[in-house]
Amino acid sequence: MNRLADAPTVPFRTSPHESLVTFDAVGKIVGRTTILSGISLDIHPGEALALMGPSGSGKSTLMAILGMFTGWSSGTVFVDGVTVGASARSRNRARRELGFGWVGQTPAFLPGRSVLDNALIPVRVDSRSRSRARFSEYRDVLVGLGLGRVLHSSVSVLSGGEQQRLSIARALIASRRVLLADEPTAALDSANTGQVIDALVRSRGARTVVVATHDPRVAERCTRVVWLRDGEIDLVEQA
Ligand SMILES: Nc1ncnc2c1ncn2[C@@H]1O[C@H](COP(=O)(O)OP(=O)(O)O)[C@@H](O)[C@H]1O
Ligand SMILES: [Mg+2]
Repeated sequence: MNRLADAPTVPFRTSPHESLVTFDAVGKIVGRTTILSGISLDIHPGEALALMGPSGSGKSTLMAILGMFTGWSSGTVFVDGVTVGASARSRNRARRELGFGWVGQTPAFLPGRSVLDNALIPVRVDSRSRSRARFSEYRDVLVGLGLGRVLHSSVSVLSGGEQQRLSIARALIASRRVLLADEPTAALDSANTGQVIDALVRSRGARTVVVATHDPRVAERCTRVVWLRDGEIDLVEQA
């Protein structure tokens, strides 16, 4: 094995301003299609950032890069001020560091299992070996999201809004730092949308939330709105 080629590159630190994730002129090209170009953005600890823009403007792709699920073609991404390589290996390392929780448009659960079991998937604790302190902390997350009465119910009896709140609970349990939600209210009616957004924004604590949405009511609850158009940042609105 070529030891030099395998050695880690020396991390380059950005200026000491506090930034959780920084995009510097990030672009993504697939085949001959430019999906994102020239994206420069600082994401700060604790903010609730809404990503808006028409379908096809690049919101999901940007979310996937943020979650380190996909690479980028140009530019630099920093996590905690340290550059992340676009390779799967570097991205996986960065993902573990940030421990992203992910909320999708329609949640996927272990069918027939309880709300509690599904919420605990990311921490892989089974009922016999759960530490009491940890368990009560996770339980509090579920209760805080209005799921206290259905902890032991099967997920199959939950309403759409309850399912999405469970999905948020699971993401909160999975991550202490960043929660990413891609159109989490797209499949919900308006009453449920309100509750889910409340849950997402209020329960975040010190976490950073990034939410891609078409819904102006979601964006209203965020601290900053980034508008995308044709894969570029069109406008940034500070709340
Ligand atoms: N893997 C891919 N290959 C080719 N085109 C893609 C790929 N992923 C997304 N796109 C295209 O990139 C554009 C942005 O997609 P997307 O990020 O899903 O936007 P949004 O979430 O805002 O609707 C769309 O035109 C989409 O068809
Ligand atoms: Mg999308």
